[in-house]
Amino acid sequence: MIDRPDAPHPWINYLGTGDFIGIISNTAGGYAFYRDARLRRLTRYRYNNVPVDEDGRFLYLRDDADGSYWSPTWRPTRRALEEYSCRHGLGYTSIASSRAGIHACATYLVPLQTTVETWSLELTNRRDAAAQLSLFSAVEFCLWNAHDDATNFQRNLNVGEVSVWDRTIVHRSEFRERRNHVASFSCSEPLAGFETRRDAFLGPYRGWSAPRSVEQGTLTHSIGVGGFPIAAHHVRLTLHPGETKRVLFVLGYHELEKDPKRQQSGPSIPNPRAIEAQIAPLLTADGFDRALRDLRSYWDEKLQTLQVETGDVDVDRMVNIWNPYQCGVTYTVSRSASRYESGIGRGIGFRDANQDLLGCVHMIPALARQRILDLASTQLASGGAYHQYQPLTKQGNNAIGSGFNDDPLWLIHAVCAYIKESGDWEILEEQVPYGDDASQVEAIYGHLIRAANYTLDRLGPHRLPLIGRADWNDCLNLNSHSLDPDEPFQTVPVADGTVAESVLIAALFCIVAPDLAEIASRRGDGRTAQQLSRANGAMRDVVRENGWDGDWFLRAYDADGAAVGSSSCDEGRIYLEPQGLCTMAGMGIDDGRARRALDSVAEQLATEHGLLLVQPAYSGYRTNLGEISSYPPGYKENGSIFCHTNPWIVIAECMIGRGDRAWDYAQRINPSHREAITEIHECEPYVYAQMIAGRDADDHGKARNSWLTGTASWAYVAMTQWVLGIRPTFDGLVIDPCIPAGLQRFSVRRTYRGTRYEIRVSNPDGVCRGVASMHADGVPVEGACLPVFDDRRIHVVDVRMGTAT
Ligand code: BGC
Ligand code: NOJ
Repeated sequence: MIDRPDAPHPWINYLGTGDFIGIISNTAGGYAFYRDARLRRLTRYRYNNVPVDEDGRFLYLRDDADGSYWSPTWRPTRRALEEYSCRHGLGYTSIASSRAGIHACATYLVPLQTTVETWSLELTNRRDAAAQLSLFSAVEFCLWNAHDDATNFQRNLNVGEVSVWDRTIVHRSEFRERRNHVASFSCSEPLAGFETRRDAFLGPYRGWSAPRSVEQGTLTHSIGVGGFPIAAHHVRLTLHPGETKRVLFVLGYHELEKDPKRQQSGPSIPNPRAIEAQIAPLLTADGFDRALRDLRSYWDEKLQTLQVETGDVDVDRMVNIWNPYQCGVTYTVSRSASRYESGIGRGIGFRDANQDLLGCVHMIPALARQRILDLASTQLASGGAYHQYQPLTKQGNNAIGSGFNDDPLWLIHAVCAYIKESGDWEILEEQVPYGDDASQVEAIYGHLIRAANYTLDRLGPHRLPLIGRADWNDCLNLNSHSLDPDEPFQTVPVADGTVAESVLIAALFCIVAPDLAEIASRRGDGRTAQQLSRANGAMRDVVRENGWDGDWFLRAYDADGAAVGSSSCDEGRIYLEPQGLCTMAGMGIDDGRARRALDSVAEQLATEHGLLLVQPAYSGYRTNLGEISSYPPGYKENGSIFCHTNPWIVIAECMIGRGDRAWDYAQRINPSHREAITEIHECEPYVYAQMIAGRDADDHGKARNSWLTGTASWAYVAMTQWVLGIRPTFDGLVIDPCIPAGLQRFSVRRTYRGTRYEIRVSNPDGVCRGVASMHADGVPVEGACLPVFDDRRIHVVDVRMGTAT
């Protein structure tokens, strides 16, 4: 619940769980799109606009007695409200306010399985006398392709077309030619007027905060051709004292059959009946209430898969509600559309989507399975991968291309996580083509082997994996050497790159290789299993020899063979990622190097706001390192708290048994925990942000790039699977908590492969790690792994932590 409209930034939520997505701020700013934020944008949004968050869902209330007007969601008029609150919930947002005795509550959602967004506005007259009100709604249409819409005005100002039928305004620009889709905006009430031309609604030189038509209280029934098509409704309402009325609005996306004959010649007008049939059931209060109930059951069911009680409100709130919700949103939207992603630049990232899956595979296994097949279809025959694909076409993005050498390994990680959760070994047999050569179709298993070999076929002078364009750290561009300000780092031509190597990729290989070897051996492919095990052993030896700096793991070797992330460097001496990932691969656990590396993290990278990505940050630009050094010190990859990597250290600390430290690190970036310092943190206190400004920045502690970040999945995996220690494996659920010594008990309800486990963990001796005994339904369990009961029953599991006796 947000209790003031002027939050430090617009704090947003997402509407929609499938094809139709709306971004909505705490004052109803934002926009909507169908599947692809670039190619099917329904409404306009100007990112660099001032005042910020001006575009979005517009509602105005006008008191017809005196002509005064305001917005019940505050924006765009920003007139003072006597009461205001915004509730962002799971897939819906509700904004309540009152002014001049009129109470308003606007609720927005996208009903399940539909391609529409519905708004319910409830108005109550709290005055002693009747109120004569005018209600105006408005949305501004985007001409579909959001990039073109923002750049190609000579054409766009001449293509707009709309139709109006009764209470429905249809945006049909370009329907006359190749498009088969339109957008609609409808109202449940008889209209006193409508407007479809923005200029007619606003009046010359006016903005959304003071439209002339709202001021005057009438609309002119304009029909827009060319120009800026909008949809605005005018409803007159009389509200008696104490009376409440509800008005519904529906913003829809419709794909329609086109008459093939007319498609060849002449204009074609969409069929109004087809559109109205989709909208009508949702334009009623009952329809809306049912949609809200369905949405609630949807999320209840998803979240019930894993619920915890730890006694810590911030941990419970994140793990039970907001973190899996963020994982779900991030899975759907990838990195395409947020307040920091314009919806134009990026589609679905290969490494991103594979990691996003880790945090929600237990909630949406069927979707995760489909995503894996889509991703594998954009893998290249070389074993590499397109770095991104467009969600609408599912085709690899040629402009960005490939050569990010960590990419293919994340596919192995995702598939293993999927099988460990679902037990669905069949996925390995699914036949899927390669993105650059559709004639080559191979089982997923074959795709994974090619992914592993892609790494092994590309080793550098130290026998470490070649980095290519970049590894997980997109900004460590060791092969780019760009001095041209007009060359984007992500697409600049890269040198051949037979020297620059990545310790991170080595670690990632050693994380996934044992699982892939296990898969191979269970499939009876002993030769591959052996090869992978040998390669895994060899890679570990290489990291021991060439990837260890003395007190921490090295980061990389640059194109001249010079160490990156070494005590021998003047800046960028220690990087966070390899300390986490090498430990996660089990490197240095027996011989103390992991502990030493993690102590170095504590000494050099830990701040009260989280763990820094690199220190010292680079003070100036370095061609041999690329984009990382383009950021001012303390921002983004150049020494911010790049949150994605923090959970890796949490997991690493768990692996060496330091539960107090793991918990503490997790809390430093936990958004709920940081709510107490909102004036520093600034971003939404319910979702993780990609970065928090580092120690080198003046505004150390300030978060940016909230919502769409791999942090969501990794924070969830770290807390549920490593700290609380409830970890899916190929054979069942392992119980292996690593908690603060002072945490005396916690419980977890987990549905796993169709069975419900009620797990109660007690820690009477105050240890961090170690299970002394475990009983399932009162029967002792040998070892750490709970069996897969597969009987759809509830099983009560009692776990006693303590030192082994
Ligand atoms: C950002 C990275 C991001 C990359 C994606 C860079 O500008 O700093 O965080 O991974 O763009 O292309
Ligand atoms: C954000 C990108 O989406 C992700 O792919 C990358 O790993 C991180 N930035 C780090 O550069």
